[in-house]
Amino acid sequence: MTVANRHDHWARHATQWSNVGPPLRPGHEDIAAVRKLVAKFGRDPDSRSLRALVLGVTPELVGMDWPSGTRLAAIDRCPDMIGSLMPSTDRQGPGRVCGNWLQLPFASGSFDLIAGDGCLTVLESTADHRHFFAELARLMTVNGRLVLRLFVRPTVAETPERVIADLQAGRIGNFHVFKWRLAMALVDEQSGAVAVADIWQAWNDSGIVPSELSESLGWPQAQIETIEAYRGASARYTFPRLDEARAMLGVNFDELSCLIPEYELGDRCPTLLLAPQS
Ligand SMILES: C[S@@+](CC[C@H](N)C(=O)[O-])C[C@H]1O[C@@H](n2cnc3c(N)ncnc32)[C@H](O)[C@@H]1O
Repeated sequence: MTVANRHDHWARHATQWSNVGPPLRPGHEDIAAVRKLVAKFGRDPDSRSLRALVLGVTPELVGMDWPSGTRLAAIDRCPDMIGSLMPSTDRQGPGRVCGNWLQLPFASGSFDLIAGDGCLTVLESTADHRHFFAELARLMTVNGRLVLRLFVRPTVAETPERVIADLQAGRIGNFHVFKWRLAMALVDEQSGAVAVADIWQAWNDSGIVPSELSESLGWPQAQIETIEAYRGASARYTFPRLDEARAMLGVNFDELSCLIPEYELGDRCPTLLLAPQS
C-alpha cells in the first residue's frame, strides 16, 4: 500500500498536528542529538554534500538547519500529513515522497544519514520491524548513520487503571504523556501491539469529560481532543521493550550511542545512533 486508506487516522491527525506535543513530538534534546550528528558530516572537508532521508514529515526534523548543499528527502505514506506538514512547493526545499517505508523507492547506498521519529511504533508487527531495518541498511552508504527515536514500553507494565488514577490525581504533566502511558499499558505482551481504536475505547470507558479535565488541570481542551483521531482507527501501534528493539536492530546495525532525554517519560523515548554493519 503506498497511500493511506480512508480509515488511516493520520489523515485526521494531520488536521490537528499543532495540538500534538512532546513526548509524541521530539523535544529540544532529541533534535540537538541529530544536529550534532549532522554537524560532524558537515565538518569533513572532503565530504561531498550530505544525502539525507527523513522517515515521515516530522517538522522538527525536516525543518532542522541542515548543512548547506544537503540533498534532503522525506517519505511518508499519508498524503494529508505531507500536505499539512510540508506544504511548501519550494523547488529548493526537501524532496517529498509519498511511499511506504516497507518498500522504500530508492537505490541501495543512496543515503549518508537517515533519521526517523517514532517510526517503529507505527509499524504493526515484529516482522515489519525486521523488514524495515533491513531496508534501511540497504539504503545506507558504508559510513552512513541512522538516528531513530523509539517509543519503548517499560520492563514492568503499568495497568490502565493506574494510569487513569495518576491522571485524575494530577500526577501526569500533559495529555500526550497520559495517552502514551495508556497506550503502553494496553499492549498485548505477546505481540507488543495495541489496536489504536482500543486506546480511544479505554479513554472513553474511563468516563472522563474533556472539558472538566481541561478545567481541573489547565490543559487545552484541543490537546485532550487529539485522542478522537484514534476513534475507530484500523491501525495498530507497537511498543517493543528497549532490549527487544535492540535485538532486532542488532541484525543489521551496531549501536554507537543511546540518548535518554530528561523530559517526562523520556526513559521511554530513547534516541539511538546506529551504524550499518559491514
Ligand atoms: C513519524 S511517525 C510518528 C509521529 C509521532 N511521533 C506520533 O507518534 O504521534 C508518524 C508518520 O508515520 C507515517 N507512517 C506510518 N506508517 C508508515 C509507513 N508504513 N510508511 C510510510 N509512512 C508511514 C504516518 O503517515 C505519519 O505521518
